[in-house]
Amino acid sequence: MLEIRDLSVTFLKGTVNERKALDRISFTVEDGEFITVIGSNGAGKSTLFGAIAGSFPIDSGKIFLDGEDITSKPEHKRSRYFGRLFQDPVSGTAPNLTVEENLSLVLLQGKKHATPLSRISKAEREMLKERLSALGMGLEDRLEQPVGLLSGGQRQALTLLLATLYPPKLLLLDEHTAALDPASASRIMALTESIVRENGISCLMITHNMQQALSYGDRTFLMNTGRIVSDLFGEKRRTMSVEGLTEQFQQSVGEEYANDRLLLF
Ligand SMILES: Nc1ncnc2c1ncn2[C@@H]1O[C@H](COP(=O)(O)OP(=O)(O)OP(=O)(O)O)[C@@H](O)[C@H]1O
Ligand SMILES: [Mg+2]
Repeated sequence: MLEIRDLSVTFLKGTVNERKALDRISFTVEDGEFITVIGSNGAGKSTLFGAIAGSFPIDSGKIFLDGEDITSKPEHKRSRYFGRLFQDPVSGTAPNLTVEENLSLVLLQGKKHATPLSRISKAEREMLKERLSALGMGLEDRLEQPVGLLSGGQRQALTLLLATLYPPKLLLLDEHTAALDPASASRIMALTESIVRENGISCLMITHNMQQALSYGDRTFLMNTGRIVSDLFGEKRRTMSVEGLTEQFQQSVGEEYANDRLLLF
């Protein structure tokens, strides 16, 4: 369970460009809960993920994970708790290493006695092949190929597998399908949902796609100017239409709405 209490982040403090990106945000993510996050450009969505992962210092507030205060833990020590995917499929994998090498690195990282020269076993190689095959992207036949040669969709599927090979306490998805063609995007979304649900992973997913925000997950946060302005769940969310959510978005975001790269399909 993740608990965020009164979290604030200001960038470029004391300069003319000072910007309050998160303004006393508080919420809880229960075990296995899948929350979608929607909001205008600059609302603070990515900043929220960065603050949770420890990518930069926060002004004030507390972050608890399973009751442990991780607020001052450095990023590298938090990384084993969190899986993180970005819009750019290139960011999650090492391009010059093969599919198998990328997977082996993650697999070996999770082992106590592995050294840089350790190899994965034959059984583990078979397991990885099966996991790749389950992605349905033909990656099981490309184990020896450098990741840089894969398509964006294949690469994002691999990144998803890498991030969940050892299920994290929380998966942070920052518009992870936004850079993909529509067919790959829907394939990656379907994979995301099945991996998240089958492993009971808690998940926060940022999207600009209203339909995606409502049809995936259990709960939706609408963010604006560093705050959560709407928290939709239960019956209210189930009966919410894309039009209804758009209207709510429009009301809370105001004139910025016209400039937003909002997707309504
Ligand atoms: N490293 C940084 N340095 C300075 N300002 C930043 C930094 N990162 C974000 N900001 C500012 O903080 C605010 C929130 O940015 P953030 O990236 O969290 O928005 P977002 O909701 O993810 O938007 P988008 O939908 O465009 O991705 C913006 O005004 C942004 O310009
Ligand atoms: Mg962002």
